[in-house]
Amino acid sequence: MAEGNYSVTPWEVKGKVDYDRLIIQFGTQKITEELRQEIRSIVGEMHPMLRREIFFSHRDLDLVLKDWKAGKGFFLYTGRAPSLGMHIGHMIPFIFTAWLQQKFGVNVYIEITDDEKFMRNLDYTLDQTRQWALDNILDIIAAGFDPDKTFIFQDTEYIRNMYPLAIKIAKKLTFSEVKATFGLDVSSNIGIIFYPSLQIVPTMFEKRRCLIPAGIDQDPYWRLQRDIAESLGYYKAAQIHSKFLPPLTGPEGKMSSSIPESAIYLSDDPKTVERKIMKYAFSGGQPTIELQRKLGANLDIDVPYQWLYYFFEEDDERIRKIGEEYKSGKMLTGEIKQILVEKLNNFLEKHRERREKAKEMVKDFKYEGKLAVQMWEKIHE
Ligand code: TYM
Repeated sequence: MAEGNYSVTPWEVKGKVDYDRLIIQFGTQKITEELRQEIRSIVGEMHPMLRREIFFSHRDLDLVLKDWKAGKGFFLYTGRAPSLGMHIGHMIPFIFTAWLQQKFGVNVYIEITDDEKFMRNLDYTLDQTRQWALDNILDIIAAGFDPDKTFIFQDTEYIRNMYPLAIKIAKKLTFSEVKATFGLDVSSNIGIIFYPSLQIVPTMFEKRRCLIPAGIDQDPYWRLQRDIAESLGYYKAAQIHSKFLPPLTGPEGKMSSSIPESAIYLSDDPKTVERKIMKYAFSGGQPTIELQRKLGANLDIDVPYQWLYYFFEEDDERIRKIGEEYKSGKMLTGEIKQILVEKLNNFLEKHRERREKAKEMVKDFKYEGKLAVQMWEKIHE
């Protein structure tokens, strides 16, 4: 979906995204202050990713809250196409989804699309994508989900239970719609043409409203879902969309697993983190100390500042102070980078501890937790 100097599709984000414009292009709605306050009034606090507008856009979030207040509840759904190692940007939707689950106490379904990854990339074998699924699931569990209310499933394992619903969905979608929505052509393999129906299935796992926290790049799937859901007797899925954590190397596009210097992986050790930030983190500061003292930094393009703002500095007063000092030239590029290195390494150390513990918990999320057991017994027809 090329527009202006940027484009956002499920496989690629290019250029400096104009998020306000994207809301108009995609036909979504901005999350208003009123809506944010409504969430706060229900759950008693506001997640920084909501307050700082990392989650900035939605569809039917107001209806989800209305259902909640009326006692109908709702459920959460998100997912991941597994790859060799997740980066910190991938954690954004999972951390936020886990927070929503803790606050609302609702079920969460997490689809691991080992099939999608295999079919989309000529170079990957199915053994690889299934292995990566097992590895990525540990990082996802480490975000803090409730094992009794969360079901994590790999498409290649759970397909039998999904298939009846998947073919009902597939029968409603034409090749020309899918082709236009995802930019496919007649040389695309037929697996990837069918795949959107599998990403839509979990939106219909319960007969109440589904809320999907995810990056806005996944939006095309939900547009198709909303066209057909009611005709199958389900709700149109609601979404809450996030912006992208920019790559280390500059404020354009999104962090990508395939460009190692653009990303911090969850497995990067402290020395690697320090080296990457110091060497690659794109700076909005001035080239010399004298100039920085005189002119200060441009926060709009400074990646260390944006990472702190989006993710790693949750304290509003502290981020305000960092922004002010860096912008005025009181703080130097090396100093803000050092703050980020410490924050990142702190986060990663805790993440690794949680990931270790997750190794004992995989079976609960996939097969043995309350929701998992229920889901294996249920054929979605
Ligand atoms: P995948 O694996 O590309 O991405 C997983 C999730 O991470 C988000 N994301 C990011 N968020 C912030 N900053 C970034 N730099 C960044 N990079 C990726 C994505 O938007 C996504 O939410 N087809 C899907 C898998 C899937 C799915 C779903 C995703 C299946 N069902 C339901 C979301 C909701 C995929 O390829 O995700």
